[in-house]
Formats: sequence, structure tokens, C-alpha cells
Amino acid sequence: MTILAIETSCDETALAIVKKEGENYSVLADAMLSQIKIHEEWGGVVPNLAKREHAKNLLPLLKKVLEESSLPAEKCDTSRKEKDIKELLIREGNLADDLIKFVKEIGIPSIDAIAVTYGPGLEPTLWVGLNFAKALSILWNKKLIPINHMEGHILSVLLEHEEGNYKTRIIDYPAVALLISGGHTELVHIKEPMSYEVIGRTRDDAVGEAFDKVARILKLPYPGGPEISKLAKEATKDNDFKLPSPMINSDDFDFSFSGLKTSVLYKAKSLGDMTNEMKADMANQFEQAVTKVLLKKSLDAVEKFDAKTFIIGGGVSANDTIRSAFKDSMKDINLLLPDKTLSTDNAIMIGITAHERLKGEYKEENPLEAEARGNLALK
Ligand code: KG4
Ligand code: ZN
Repeated sequence: MTILAIETSCDETALAIVKKEGENYSVLADAMLSQIKIHEEWGGVVPNLAKREHAKNLLPLLKKVLEESSLPAEKCDTSRKEKDIKELLIREGNLADDLIKFVKEIGIPSIDAIAVTYGPGLEPTLWVGLNFAKALSILWNKKLIPINHMEGHILSVLLEHEEGNYKTRIIDYPAVALLISGGHTELVHIKEPMSYEVIGRTRDDAVGEAFDKVARILKLPYPGGPEISKLAKEATKDNDFKLPSPMINSDDFDFSFSGLKTSVLYKAKSLGDMTNEMKADMANQFEQAVTKVLLKKSLDAVEKFDAKTFIIGGGVSANDTIRSAFKDSMKDINLLLPDKTLSTDNAIMIGITAHERLKGEYKEENPLEAEARGNLALK
């Protein structure tokens, strides 16, 4: 089974072709265009700029993954479908015409389905990817599989990447997943495959959001997470800023990070011009404070649900301090961290999730009527 996967939930346009034979995954092609340079000057993602970029990037990336995968193709007659495609992509400039022309040239590749993220994320950008996927599904007459981005982050751990080769991993259930990204901080109990119960969430900022805001306070470039992570490695530990670890002893699985961020803000204000050394110590202590709460609540959840596997997913799982703290404290459990190349947004994880969905009782009544859902929840 071979699936073309499309991801446009935020500021990365990503396409991949993921194959599964038996239980083994392989990635036939993977391509991505990041918009960091465009959003950098605004200090965050601007939805309408992002939407325009996705519309521009999708077709070149499709060409690229189809070339890279060298899948055979058969002739495609688009004549009776062109009107629908033009209607579907009416708001995307020349995309409909360009796509029809391309499909006439390239034909129908031998894939089995098209997977696309339909939420959560920025609605304008989700719509572009979803409509593009619908257009391909109609033109090629292939099944459309709308995918939840957060489930993608969870199942990204199924692939291990070693020197260009992918190995397939196994999740023993029950499992608990910690999702830490730019928009989400959630603890999820997964009793059995595809059965998700969110047991805790942030009451204010998401972890990634806190990293990005603290980076801005320390005058580091966007996106802040990787910058904080880099700077924290230079910490001298000469300064103690006494940052709090909010809600560490609360009697639930919820989180809160805005107080920690505000604490950094007040300390930074009272210090005035901070030296690089002070900034590095601040970055380090911020990371430590975040890690401490994430770890404490995760260990509690593992115990409560008797989990056999612990999964971390989402962009912040690329953070080395968090990775090593969890590795040190979770030696008796199957700890699955995503490969660093699959930690942040990508289309491979969307392809994997579609394969896993097809394996179960997958039923999507009318995928061609799916709508982009910015707040789509896990269930
Ligand atoms: O999952 P993701 O790529 O996009 C969303 O779905 O939100 O996560 C992006 C978030 C950003 O907030 C970014 O700053 C953070 O992940 N991030 C990191 C690191 N790499 C990315 N945070 C901490 N340390 C990192 N190394
Ligand atoms: Zn994400």
C-alpha cells in the first residue's frame, strides 16, 4: 500500500510518499518547503501569508515527490473533471489550471490513497492543503484520508531513521503520549490503538509557545525553541534566577506555562541589558523548569494508567534537555521519541497515520466533504 501525504497546518508545506509492506514502512519520497524566512520579520506565523505560500509550494513539491519516488503512472483523462477542480481551487490563483496541466502530463501515479491534515492548525492554511488533496483525489480517482495532525505527531514514533534507512517500531499498549508543540501541550492516555483520551492539557500557553515567547524576551530570532535550546547549552550556572515550575504539585495532569514566561519577563526587565552568559543561564533554567513539570506529570500518568509505552510527540520533542531527562527517568518503560527529523511538522507522519487508520476500522463517510478544523480534537 502506498500513500501520498500532504501537510499544510502551519508554516511548513510538506509532501511525502509512504509505503507499507506487511508491518514495514518505507519512505519513497519526502519534500518540504519551510516559510521561516517569510514569517521571521513578523515574529510569528501570519496566516494569510502562509496560505499564499502553501498555494505556491504545493505543485512544485508534488512534482518533486513524484519524480523522487519514480512510481509508474497511467494516462489520466481530466476532461470531465476540470470544472469541479476549478471551482474547488477558485481562491488559489492559477493553481487549478497549473494542476490540471500537470496531471495531464504526468498521468495517475500508482498510489492507493491521498492523506491530508485537516486539523488542528491554522484554518486558512489547512484549507489550501485539503482542497489540493481533494482535487487530486477527484482527478486521480483515489481515496482521500483526512488526518488529525496531533495523531500524526503521536504515530511519528513508529519510524526510526538511521543513516537514510527507516526502521519500523512497535507501540505496546496501554500507552501514554505527551504532545508538546507550538499550539498544544497535552497528556494523552492511549488504551488501545487509535483510542485517545486527553487526560491533561495546558490552561494557558503551549510549551512551544512559551519557548518562542521567552526567546523573544531574550531577543533571540524566530522560531525561538531551537534558539533557546542552543543557547542553554552554553549555560555557566553562575546565576540563579529562581524560576518557578508552575502546577508541579497540582493534583491533576494539567499544565500552565504563562506564569513561568512572565517570571522570565520580570527578571529580564529588572536586569536590563543581559550579557550572553546571563541569557544562557536564563535559557537553561527555563528549560529545566519546563522539563521538571513535564516529567513529573508524565511519570504520574505512566503510573496511573500502567502504561507500557511512553511517547513524546510535537516540535518541542526535538529539545535535547527534555529528551535526555526522559531517557534518564524512563528506563523501565518502552520510551519512544520521534526521530529528530520527524519531531517538527512533516508529511511522513501524516502518511504513517493514514496507513494505521486503514488498518483499523477506518470509515470516513464522505471524505470529499471534509472541512478544515482549526481546533480539531484528538479522539
Ligand atoms: O510541531 P511543530 O513543528 O508545529 C506545531 O504543530 O505547532 O512545533 C513547533 C514548535 C515551536 O514552538 C518551536 O519553537 C518548537 O516547536 N521547537 C522547539 C525545538 N524545535 C522546535 N522547542 C524547543 N527545543 C527545540 N529544539
Ligand atoms: Zn505540529
